[in-house]
Amino acid sequence: MVAESAREFAEKRLKPVAQRWDEEEAIPREMYSEAAELGFLGIMLPEEYGGLGLDYPAYVAAMEELARGNAAFQVGVTVHNSLVASAILKFGTEEQRRKFLPKMAKGEWIGAYCLSEPGAGSDAASIRASALKEGDHYILNGTKAWVSNGGFAQVFLVFVVTNKDLGKRGVSCLLVERGLPGFTVGKKEKKLGIRASDTREIVFQNCRVPRNALLGVENEGFKIAMAQLDNGRISIAAQAVGVAQAAFEEAVAYSKARQQFGRPLCEFQATQFKLAEMAMNIDAARLLTYRAAGMMKQGVRCTKEASMAKLFASTMCNKVAFDALQLHGGNGYTREFPVERYFRDARITEIYEGTSEIQHLIIAREVLGR
Ligand code: CAA
Repeated sequence: MVAESAREFAEKRLKPVAQRWDEEEAIPREMYSEAAELGFLGIMLPEEYGGLGLDYPAYVAAMEELARGNAAFQVGVTVHNSLVASAILKFGTEEQRRKFLPKMAKGEWIGAYCLSEPGAGSDAASIRASALKEGDHYILNGTKAWVSNGGFAQVFLVFVVTNKDLGKRGVSCLLVERGLPGFTVGKKEKKLGIRASDTREIVFQNCRVPRNALLGVENEGFKIAMAQLDNGRISIAAQAVGVAQAAFEEAVAYSKARQQFGRPLCEFQATQFKLAEMAMNIDAARLLTYRAAGMMKQGVRCTKEASMAKLFASTMCNKVAFDALQLHGGNGYTREFPVERYFRDARITEIYEGTSEIQHLIIAREVLGR
């Protein structure tokens, strides 16, 4: 049911405007409120916090459909759900849950995840942003980079160094609210794909954050960052499946409509084999994604399976988008056809929430043991 509702929303409210949003590089803020009315901003949150109380596979099904409609919109929804709201649910105090989650489920407050910095991307443990204790406050200084939803989010999950002598064991996680003195939203990134998503730099200059903003245990924030990325990577796998599915559907329709050498393209075996490969690989990626989501539902650690799903799905998505564009020939290279956008949107799935190289590294570590 949730997948059907997401599909309908994507068909009516996302797909028809996706190209315009891409050109304008922006999504109207009210779209998130609309999605919240259908429950998409609190799918996995318990009903007592205003959520739908559904499980991870249901969430993944909805995320695939939203991405099929528009990946730029979907990424904001997944960051909000799987990186931020689920962290508050899992690691937050009851007071923090009651304060943030109902507003997040309603879409009044959107979440953003601030881990990366200009100098700390793949090597997340090398972050420099710091929080020094002063009375009952932390004083934050530093810059966070590539923050999705940064321009309009209200709740920022910020990873900071609280003890620089302890390396990654001296990192903490703070729930920072927008608008505190010393909190500045920086430049909006001009991107190759998912252009409509809002990607920002966030700057903290002597920003005073109350001590009760600490999420979980002090100096154990790096593990929260990593655990949340297991969640997030499954959502990005679902995104890659959704984008690939959209590109595939365009390729099928085009191959039936386009005539060359007196026949529709779909009558050439070269086209048929390409479509068969696409269909098989999309399904394989979808199954890996559901396997990881099923483990998440069981509460079993799925670091390896989440990385496998993300790596396979994002590689597959780029190949499918490439082939779908190729099948469209010259038309595919123009903005008249959506495959041009799918081709650009696919690219990020191999980069954010850990590059493909980092996914290889994580899988290898899990296979070999530490
Ligand atoms: N769950 C729970 N704990 C975990 C964990 C997981 N998945 N992975 C690691 N940990 C724990 C480890 O057990 C270890 O704990 P101990 O200190 O007790 O031993 C601790 O965390 C440190 O782990 P590592 O030693 O493995 O850390 P590392 O420095 O070697 O880094 C890495 C590992 C996998 C390379 C990590 O830095 C990483 O994931 N890099 C990629 C960063 C990334 O994905 N960034 C995404 C940015 S967010 C984004 O893109 C969102 C967006 O806007 C769309």
